[in-house]
Amino acid sequence: MNPEKGCAFLITGGSSGLGWEVARRLLDRGCSVGLMARNEKRLTEAVSLLNVEASRVVACVGDAAEPEACSRAVKMMTDAFGGLNGLVCCAGMSMRASVESTEFQIAENVMRANFWTVFHATQAALPSVLARKGSLVAVASLAGHRGVPGYGVYGAAKRAVIGLYESLRLEVSDAGVHVGIFSPGFFESPLRRQVLNGKGEVIDPPPSLPFRLWPLDRCADLVVQSLERRKRLIYLPGFMRYLNAFDDVTGGGLGDRFLKSRFRGL
Ligand SMILES: NC(=O)c1ccc[n+]([C@@H]2O[C@H](COP(=O)([O-])OP(=O)(O)OC[C@H]3O[C@@H](n4cnc5c(N)ncnc54)[C@H](OP(=O)(O)O)[C@@H]3O)[C@@H](O)[C@H]2O)c1
Repeated sequence: MNPEKGCAFLITGGSSGLGWEVARRLLDRGCSVGLMARNEKRLTEAVSLLNVEASRVVACVGDAAEPEACSRAVKMMTDAFGGLNGLVCCAGMSMRASVESTEFQIAENVMRANFWTVFHATQAALPSVLARKGSLVAVASLAGHRGVPGYGVYGAAKRAVIGLYESLRLEVSDAGVHVGIFSPGFFESPLRRQVLNGKGEVIDPPPSLPFRLWPLDRCADLVVQSLERRKRLIYLPGFMRYLNAFDDVTGGGLGDRFLKSRFRGL
């Protein structure tokens, strides 16, 4: 990241939660940003809340699960800032439902929001990021690393993101491009009040949390750290890297019992 050379980052899901907080931090560091999201009104409000010169922010209205919308967003960034130093894929939605009770259409929506947004935004951004030897960071989840009751489809989408980015890293590292994954547990954001059930209805009140809720600021700092230090994988909490490894070598039985007891009452 080099603000003197005019660094520019596209952030999918930039109108809310983690994406917006990452945008704020990148602007504080002297970079320019493009925020991509579908709801134009919320996006416009999010841009105005950033409170910086209009010349440093581009609002890219569009569905990042659509390749044309991603190409348009990258073109807007190129027109405004000459190219892209990085992409941060924050777009996503949450669903909590057993595999049995998940309707196919809802499963598809979850895959679109959490996986296809990453795939299409990454493909669109790649030529420009390669030219600047920049960074690509995707937000996954702890549920993408380990099976958890109620997160079968969401976890599958996040696991797909991890697979995509792990392979991509090997494909582009020789060209000087950084590929990073951020895998957090639950954190504070508007998404927590929008968790869907298997029929696509918002669960109200939101499902109770079996684990600690992390502050949004902590997550945004870690995403920026991934960009600045060119990290491969950041877990939150960090000890999950070791716990997952322990779970694997011990055959997973202990982890299964623990998680089943924490996620009772689906
Ligand atoms: N919050 C948590 O506990 C938690 C835990 C682990 C991982 N994560 C992941 O962290 C990421 C950020 O989540 P958050 O909590 O900050 O969520 P959030 O506050 O609900 O923000 C989600 C953002 O994604 C955008 N979005 C959704 N679908 C999109 C699409 N198809 N195309 C473009 N933009 C789209 C939304 O805007 P529009 O609706 O206007 O498009 C919004 O800007 C997500 O990938 C989520 O899965 C969250």
